[in-house]
Amino acid sequence: MKSITHPTGLFDNGAKDYKHITAIPLAAAMGAEIQGVDLSNVSDYAFAEIEAALYRHKLIFFREQDISFTDHENITLRFGDFGTDAYTKGVEGHKNIQPVIKEATVETKMVFGSGWHTDSAFLDCPPAIAINYGKDMPPYGGDTLFANSVLAYNSLSPAMKEMIAPLKVWMSAKHVVSSMQAEKQSQQRKSGELGSLELDVDTQKMIEGSYHPLVRTHPVSGEKSLYVDKTYACGIEGMTEEESRPLLDFLAGFVTQESFVCRLKWYNNTVIMWDNRICLHQAFNDYDGYRREMYRAVVMGEKPE
Ligand code: SIN
Repeated sequence: MKSITHPTGLFDNGAKDYKHITAIPLAAAMGAEIQGVDLSNVSDYAFAEIEAALYRHKLIFFREQDISFTDHENITLRFGDFGTDAYTKGVEGHKNIQPVIKEATVETKMVFGSGWHTDSAFLDCPPAIAINYGKDMPPYGGDTLFANSVLAYNSLSPAMKEMIAPLKVWMSAKHVVSSMQAEKQSQQRKSGELGSLELDVDTQKMIEGSYHPLVRTHPVSGEKSLYVDKTYACGIEGMTEEESRPLLDFLAGFVTQESFVCRLKWYNNTVIMWDNRICLHQAFNDYDGYRREMYRAVVMGEKPE
């Protein structure tokens, strides 16, 4: 294995020498392309290496995959039960495959996944892993950014680590719900068209949210990561808004600093998998006039500890 040491010296994104797959690192911070795999037909040996590569690199991606909804379901179920997606309904006949589609004609300020976030953190058991299939992607733009929250945690000072160790973060969708409601009203005023940004869900529960450890431990690798983002982290248990806001702003900005980030360029038929417990991500709305068609499935997560 050739080491790829992050400039901080606190993370090695080098790829292991696997037997059934090839991993090619994307950046020093995280991410790897996996080659030598047809996701519609994965042996148990190859799957074990894919899982290990996912935990190691946090985000992995596969080019030139031609998968059906059933293939997408099957590869998701190799990791565990389907998780909950709070925002979208599945496609017909495949309720766990959620369409994330923006038509070329839709002009919106807000797209699904915009703003740095960890998926559905307001749930008691947020998804562990997400698997997205980019089927028809724009010729430019629409990239997805990822940030390594293990590297971020390891880069904090010992004093900061000690201070935040016992804290619980209030994860709530209150900002997302109000932005979506405002966007929905503005879209309806314009045309009645909303792309896949529907809000047919129990928003009250999403706003109530959940309290989770600000530092969570990965159930398999034991790695500690910062569980904070710019979208859902709305408070800290036992603190006033005035007290918690500066700390949350600092930590959420710290995790997403450029050197902890990798950027994924999509092509048609790219499948990506990320471990939602150890990274954040953000989608970009910079491809107006082009269709972006993606399908997403999530794996049930555990209660963060
Ligand atoms: C998401 O699943 O959060 C959306 C990612 C993307 O659209 O790139």
